[in-house]
Parts: sequence; C-alpha cells; structure tokens
Amino acid sequence: MKISVKVPATTANIGPGFDCLGMALPLYNTITIEETVLPGTGIEINVMQDSDSDNVLSLEHIPMDENSIIYKAVELLYNSIGQTPSELKITVHSHIPIARGFGSSAAVIVGGLLAANELLGRPADEVALLSIATEVEGHPDNVTPAIVGGLVLSSLEDDGTVIYRKLDWPDEWQITLCIPDYELATDIARSVLPKEVPMADAIFNAQRMGMFVQAVNTKDEELMRLALHDKLHQPYRMKLVPGFDKIMENLKHEESVLGCVLSGAGPSILIISKKNALDKIHSIVKETWAYLNVKAEVLTLPVEKQGAQIIKQDN
Ligand code: HSE
Repeated sequence: MKISVKVPATTANIGPGFDCLGMALPLYNTITIEETVLPGTGIEINVMQDSDSDNVLSLEHIPMDENSIIYKAVELLYNSIGQTPSELKITVHSHIPIARGFGSSAAVIVGGLLAANELLGRPADEVALLSIATEVEGHPDNVTPAIVGGLVLSSLEDDGTVIYRKLDWPDEWQITLCIPDYELATDIARSVLPKEVPMADAIFNAQRMGMFVQAVNTKDEELMRLALHDKLHQPYRMKLVPGFDKIMENLKHEESVLGCVLSGAGPSILIISKKNALDKIHSIVKETWAYLNVKAEVLTLPVEKQGAQIIKQDN
C-alpha cells in the first residue's frame, strides 16, 4: 500500500504568540510512504525538491536515515502500538521553502505521521497525532495548524497533550510573506534566546496576546496594530535577520500596514495589512533588502483553512 499526504506550510508566533500561535499557508509538501515488498530492505527516505526552488543546498543537509525527523515521528507512532517500522519507502516532495520560517520540518513530521497512521489502519486519533508531532518538533505552534489548518492557538500541556482552538482570520487582512534568499535553522534561532526574560517583557507579551485574540475576533484594526509586537523572541533574533528593523521602520508610516513580524524563527518576515497598498509593500521590502544585497521573494497569500490531507491511496 502507498499513502500520500499533502501538508501546508505554516507561520508561527505572528508577533506576540511565541510557541503558541500559528497559521497554515497555501504552500505544500507531499509526503508519500509505501511498504516495500522485499523484506530486509529497511527504511529508505528520499527528498525531491520543487524544480522551481533553490532548495538544493538545504536538501543536502536533511538526514535521510534513522536520524531523520520523519523517521522519528513514524517510529514513535509504531512504538505507541507496540510495533517497529520496517520496509518503508518515504518520499518527500518539498515545495515549502526550507529553513525560512514556514514550518518545513513540521510539514514533513505531520506528513510522515499521517501517512504512517493511515498505513496502520488509523490507530492514532488527532490527540495522539498532535502529541507525537509536538514531541518531535518541540513546540506545537507549527504542527497544530499543519494538521488542522487555519489560524490556531495551541499549548503543550505537562502530560504531553496539545490543547488548541481555531480562530477566524479576517478575510480583509492580507498576509504578505517576505522570503530572503538565505537560510536560518530554527535551532540556531532558538540558541540566541535567553533562558529567562524580564517580568515587564512577559507582561508586555501577555497583554499583546490578549489583544491579538480580541482583535482577530472583532476585526479590530486599531487593536491589531498594538497586538503585533513582541519582546520574547524578536529582539534577540533581530541580529540574525539583517534588514528586519529597517523594513519595520520603512513600513511604520504605511496606513494600510497593521504590523510586521518574524515568520516563526525567521529569517522570513510576515506583513499584515489591509487590502490596499500591496504593491507599495512589495516594493518597500524588496528595495530595503536589495540595499543590503539580500534577494527576496515577496508573496501575498490567503490563510489555508484546511490542514493536512490524504491525497492518494493505492492498494
Ligand atoms: N515558535 C518557534 C520559534 C517557531 O520561534 O522558535 C519556529 O519553528
């Protein structure tokens, strides 16, 4: 049997929601798992890149063996029902930019898990899948929207379960992804964060997080402008994303822009705006980065409301 799963990209944090806010986006990886017929062939993992992308270098760094995050996720699922995976061919078709802050690792974890779960006859429910995916990823903010779609608020509880609720993103608010031509691995971007933060900064983020939820629920632009700020991760990561401060500064006086934040751990930047002035936003970002010799792709995309989908099943 061969199962394919299409998994959306995700953007996490979205300003104040460090490790707890995430949103699915319409860029996808496809993960296929098939049982190989020959016993003793073990696990084979192949990663194929999108022919239009420049992900060649990144792919060289993706482990293709038992150290792979896909393998770990699949192994945890098999172990949870007292089995060990063997004789599997796993293929990843990668269209989500790698190491750019769009949940490419969450997508392969989720795709591997869902495909393996289908292959095994669905022993794991959504709660179990979320818990395993978060255990491998380390935080729930990318894997949760990758599984359930949309804009999602999530938390990892002490017993390893993930609690989540979906929020309705206002259609009037545009999401522009600004993707620079260099990579930033999440573990490097997490290594610059302090172990402890000042109480005033924690209060600042708690205030913005409350504002964010209320702003989304009531489509309150004024509140959203206040909400899209952060003191828990962005100030520390600023040095890893040259030009982020300048782009923020150059967009500050654009009436249509509600906020400018790091996408996940960066290096990509997310701009939330009203429907007008997209051309202006695109040119401000491109020009600001071009000044620093950074090439960038700038895309305005809607929220992907659907999570991972099983797209092919051959018996
Ligand atoms: N919340 C995570 C971080 C997202 O900011 O490190 C990146 O995967």
